[in-house]
Amino acid sequence: MWPLCLGAMLIIAITHWVYRWRNPSCYGKLPPGSMGFPLLGETLQFFSPNTSSDIPPFIKKRMKRYGPIFKTNLVGRPVVVSTDPELNYFIFQQEGQVFQSWYPDTFTKIFGRQNVGSLHGFMYKYLKNLVLNLFGPESLKKMLPEVEQTACRTLEKWSCEDIVDLKEATARMIFDLTAKKLISYDSTKSSENLRDNFVAFIQGLISFPLDVPGTAYHKCLQGRKRAMKMLKKMLQERREMQKKEQEDFFDYVIEELKKEGTVLTEAIALDLMFVLLFASFETTSLALTYATKVLSDHPLVLKQLQEEHEAILKRREDPNSGITWKEYKSMTYTFQFINETVRLANIVPGIFRKALREINFKGYTIPKGWAVMVCPPAVHLNAAKYQDPLSFNPRRWEGIELNGATKHFMAFGGGMRFCVGTDFTKVQMAIFLHCLVTKYRWRPVKGGNIVRTPGLQFPNGFHVQIMEKDQTKQEPEFDETK
Ligand code: HEM
Repeated sequence: MWPLCLGAMLIIAITHWVYRWRNPSCYGKLPPGSMGFPLLGETLQFFSPNTSSDIPPFIKKRMKRYGPIFKTNLVGRPVVVSTDPELNYFIFQQEGQVFQSWYPDTFTKIFGRQNVGSLHGFMYKYLKNLVLNLFGPESLKKMLPEVEQTACRTLEKWSCEDIVDLKEATARMIFDLTAKKLISYDSTKSSENLRDNFVAFIQGLISFPLDVPGTAYHKCLQGRKRAMKMLKKMLQERREMQKKEQEDFFDYVIEELKKEGTVLTEAIALDLMFVLLFASFETTSLALTYATKVLSDHPLVLKQLQEEHEAILKRREDPNSGITWKEYKSMTYTFQFINETVRLANIVPGIFRKALREINFKGYTIPKGWAVMVCPPAVHLNAAKYQDPLSFNPRRWEGIELNGATKHFMAFGGGMRFCVGTDFTKVQMAIFLHCLVTKYRWRPVKGGNIVRTPGLQFPNGFHVQIMEKDQTKQEPEFDETK
């Protein structure tokens, strides 16, 4: 009799639990949507790879069925997905008040509990200032010659090679430059390769979070462990060395750590270093690879870009003098091109927040503690805002302010947490493109296909042959119809 009763009770408990999973309690009206299977939610569907350049199928299907705001469950968390420009705007404006930056536990495990994206209030502002100091306009002005030299030398080297995988090679170039700025790391002089650990890390970053040997997620955690060990060792060595003046970010951090009553700890500094190294090279290399691919496919866009950069060289007294800040700022078409690239590349597929209290919006309730995901691709590919949204047209940005975010452009986020690396990315992209289109030609050889999981990836790289332009010969005119 007892086993029968126990069995019945168990079935009732499980049924109740499944019912609660599917119908979470809420005092108001939850947005429509499905919470998927118990425990799994809709995680597998969300991470399922697709090759679309359009709004991710996971989102598009649900937008059609439920409208612009819907609920789901991802990695064990109830989430409200927003593709609604007004709700997105509200979420960004209410940072720290009604919403707070939040990423799934798996992300915090990967990036560290004390990474800048998970910190709030005073500590967050302190770190943000640290980073802005490093990547703000004054630092970038000083960095310009170094960025140009790196781009030119790297391109020269690539032009001597048979084939170059641009995804891999631009990542290496940007990593080396950023690591030099941050920690004076020189891959050619180090016995251990710091970037290799980041590569292992990235492969599992946006993957299903199963920490079992053999899975991409497990490799990702191992990559982080090794990279953090290396960074820690480097910081320790540097702390033991006596230095007179500040040269890189490590020196700055070491000085801060010495200050009495400082809020900075070694652990926070290391997490920050890790995030910056990761954020700078992976995102920008994806954007640059995407940009070069687009240029290969759109000869007219390439021609217009070339004209802008050749005009800069023609205006100079000495064509071999380096790019000035004024010249950089004059690259109007290039900035439009970069905006159009990041609009369509949709490198960041989702921006996460947590509701700090219950919110009512457009008749729906978002319960306290729930996650919200702003979906930039749905905004950037909205046909009501962007005419022919899938076509690549830099001129659509003519006359539009390109700094900062709007309700319809959030490739670099929005509100208080707007990406601190935006200007750094733009400098690197614009200068690289300047060197590329004025001195070189290239021919796609293989790869270049994209997969989204849902983060953008080039699974087969993008292999090209790079050739120096023969400056004495007139370049053939491009024919758009070919
Ligand atoms: C194409 C290049 C890039 C894209 C598309 C991009 C995108 C973004 C987005 C969407 C956010 C907002 C995240 C949120 O609100 O939760 C963000 C934040 C951030 N980005 Fe970038 N980013 C790029 C380049 C960089 C670079 C080069 C750096 C390094 C200097 C960087 C460092 C950061 C940091 C530290 C944050 C967190 C800021 C905060 O929490 O206030 N990013 N980025």
